[in-house]
Amino acid sequence: MNDAALRDIEIGLFLDAMLARHGYDFHHYAKASLKRRVVGLAQAEGCQSIAELIPRLLREDGFLPRALARLSVPVTEMFRDPPVFLALRREVLPLLDSYPRVAIWQAGCATGEECTSLAILLKEAGMLQKVQIYATDINDAALAAAEEGVYPASAVAEAEAEANYRKAGGTATLADYFHTAYGFSKVADEIRSRIVFAHHNLVADGVFCEVHMVLCRNVLIYFDRCLQNRVASLFHDSLARGGFLCLGNRETLQFTSVAERFRAIDGECRIFKKAGAAP
Ligand SMILES: C[S@@+](CC[C@H](N)C(=O)[O-])C[C@H]1O[C@@H](n2cnc3c(N)ncnc32)[C@H](O)[C@@H]1O
Repeated sequence: MNDAALRDIEIGLFLDAMLARHGYDFHHYAKASLKRRVVGLAQAEGCQSIAELIPRLLREDGFLPRALARLSVPVTEMFRDPPVFLALRREVLPLLDSYPRVAIWQAGCATGEECTSLAILLKEAGMLQKVQIYATDINDAALAAAEEGVYPASAVAEAEAEANYRKAGGTATLADYFHTAYGFSKVADEIRSRIVFAHHNLVADGVFCEVHMVLCRNVLIYFDRCLQNRVASLFHDSLARGGFLCLGNRETLQFTSVAERFRAIDGECRIFKKAGAAP
């Protein structure tokens, strides 16, 4: 048996141990990128083989958060893919504004930049006070950072962040929504106060709550077709009739069993409306 085949066996055993010992099921993550991340974890931990990770996963305190941080890819930025925020600003927020109260689920929030960007849009649309954003993730370390809402000042002040905010239709200055001192920028209380952070695992957990919009970008790409299908159904069941699903420009509902139950309102930014009139 060659090295690659042996490594695949070891990765399978590592995933089995992760599920049996800690209850996290990565079996339905897209194979190629998951492999790369497990190999990267072994290298970062100074292991000669994937198999060496297994006893550490089973017995070593503090190993799980490091493993989850590597396997879950909590990479994000303020106003990432600005055309999606522009589309939300122009096409979705005016419709959501007709509700007296609005609930939004942002799944896979990583360190919180995306839900912060969304809250800034809502503030600029004059809707923030009637909105509750539920931001969830599997990665507790990322959630803790999101909850704190403190970022390197460069994440807010650098030209690219400001340019993305502008491309997303912003007319103020991104830094207006942060308090910056000693090289760090903290999200303003008013923005932060409408966001609740919670642990939720899209692989294993059920409907989070009934919401008017689900925002989930750059998460489904890490899942295989079977898991994408499960998660798409979960989003469908979480949405009120007439609610919106925003997947962003890298993911699609195609090939999922709920594709027919949504109508695309922005094909480029993959924003969908759940079929059926709003209540
Ligand atoms: C690449 S980040 C995307 C962050 C943000 N949505 C964005 O587009 O900038 C992917 C996030 O999905 C989260 N994630 C991965 N698997 C998950 C799961 N099973 N349940 C919930 N979140 C998950 C990761 O922890 C990570 O924070």
